Amino acid sequence: MDVLRVEGNGPLHGTVQAGGAKNAALPIFAACLLTAEEVTIENVPELSDLRFMGEILRALGATVRKSAPGVWKIQAGQIGHVAPYELVRKMRASICVLGPLVARQRKARVSMPGGCVIGTRPIDLHLKGLARLGCKIGIHSGYVEVDAADIHGDYVFLGGRQGPTVTGTANIVMAAVLTPGITRIESAACEPEVADLCDMLVKMGAQIEGIGSHYLKITGVEALHGCTHRILPDRVEAGTLLIAGAMTGGDVTVENVVPGHMRAFIDKLEECGVECHCNPAAQTIRVNGAAPRKPVDIVTLPHPGFPTDLQAQMCAMMALTPGLSIVTERIYPNRFMHVPELARMGADIAIEGPSAIIHGVSSLSGAPVMASDLRASAALVLAGLAASGETWVQRIYHLDRGYERLDAKLRSLGATIERLPVEAMPVSYIDD
Ligand code: EPU
Repeated sequence: MDVLRVEGNGPLHGTVQAGGAKNAALPIFAACLLTAEEVTIENVPELSDLRFMGEILRALGATVRKSAPGVWKIQAGQIGHVAPYELVRKMRASICVLGPLVARQRKARVSMPGGCVIGTRPIDLHLKGLARLGCKIGIHSGYVEVDAADIHGDYVFLGGRQGPTVTGTANIVMAAVLTPGITRIESAACEPEVADLCDMLVKMGAQIEGIGSHYLKITGVEALHGCTHRILPDRVEAGTLLIAGAMTGGDVTVENVVPGHMRAFIDKLEECGVECHCNPAAQTIRVNGAAPRKPVDIVTLPHPGFPTDLQAQMCAMMALTPGLSIVTERIYPNRFMHVPELARMGADIAIEGPSAIIHGVSSLSGAPVMASDLRASAALVLAGLAASGETWVQRIYHLDRGYERLDAKLRSLGATIERLPVEAMPVSYIDD
C-alpha cells in the first residue's frame, strides 16, 4: 500500500490539465449496455473506479478494452441482467447499471449498494422513478429485483430532501430512452455530468429534450446504436488544482476546463480574495492567490450551486484563511470526515450540525493523517502543501478512485509530493 509524503514548499506555479470527469464517465460506461453495437469513449481518466465499472460490464457479458491511452471501446452484444454483490459493494456508482439493464433486458437484479462514509445514500428515488414507469420492484436478499415487462413512459418526479438525485436521474433517463411512450422527468439533476450522459445518448439515437435543465422529456425509441463520445472535463479535479494554487499563494492555470460549469466555485474564490481569470474559449481558468484572503460562508447545493465535491478542499483553504468561515453541507450533512484530520494539523474547526465553523489559523503543521474518502483525501493533500513540515497521507487508495496522478500533476506545479510504499513512513506513524 502506498502513502503520500507532502512537504509545504511555498507557492505553486504553472499550467496543468484537468482530465475527463469521473462522474460523467461512470454512467456513460453503464450506458454502453443500451446497445449491442460498439461504443468508443475518449478522454477517460485512469481511475480505479472506472476499472471497477469495466469489471462490472464484463461480468454482465460486455467486451471492454482500452484501445489507446484514455480511449475505451465497449461492446455489449449479449448481456445478462445480474450485477452481483461482490462487484457492486466496491463502488456505489455501480447502481448506474440498473437503468440500462431495465431498458435493454426488461429485467434486472442488482445488488443494493450499502452505506458509505459520507452518508447513508439511499436509492429510494431511483426505485420510485422506475415504479412510476410501471416496473415491479422487490428487494430480496440484498438485491433490487426489477420486472420491467410492462414499462411505459410517464411523469417522474426526482426531487428528494436534498434536491434532485444525480445518478438517479441518470438511471431514469437510461431506462426511459428505450421505453415506449414519453417520459417527463421533473426535478431532474442538471449537473454537467448528467448533461454529458444525455449528449452521448442523443448521439446513440435517443430523443431527449431539455438537456442541462431540471425538466427532461424523453421519447422512447426502439433501439440505440454505437457512437464515439469524448468525456467532458472534470470540474472537481480542476477545482482541486485551482485551490492548490490559491491556498499556497501561487499562480496556477488549469487547462481543459469549462468555466461555465464552475460559476459558484469561482464566485466563492473571488469573494475570498483570490484573483480568477476565466477564458471560456480557451477552456482555461487561472488563479492568483498572492493577495491576503478573506473568510467566506459556503453552502453546498445541487448544481448550479456550490458542489459538495469541493467542500472538503475549501475547508482546507478556509482553515488557513484569517477570520470566521462557515461551510454548510446540504447534500451530505455528515460529510466532514476531513475535519478531525485537519485538526491534527492545527486547524481550528468545530462541527455544528451540518456546518463547519472554521476559525482560520495563521499556519498548519504537517502530521501523519488518514484519508477517509475521496474528497477528504484531496483536502488533506492540499493542507499538506500549505503546512510547514511533512504530512504523510495514508489510505490514498481513496484518492486514486477519483484523481488521475494528482501527485504528478501537483509536482509539475512545483509541489514537493511523493508516492512511497508505506514502509517508507516513520514507524511510529504507520496505522495498523
Ligand atoms: N438521495 C436520496 N435518495 C436517492 C438518491 C439520493 O435521498 O434515491 C440523497 C442522497 O443521500 C444525497 C442527495 O440525495 O443526500 C444527493 O445524492 P445523489 O443521488 O445526487 O448523489 P449520487 O448520484 O449518489 C453523485 C456523485 C457524487 C456527488 C453527488 C452529489 C457520481 C458517481 N457520484 O452521487 O460524487 O457527491 O452526486 O453531487 O456521480 C464524488 O465524486 O466524490 C462523489 C461522492
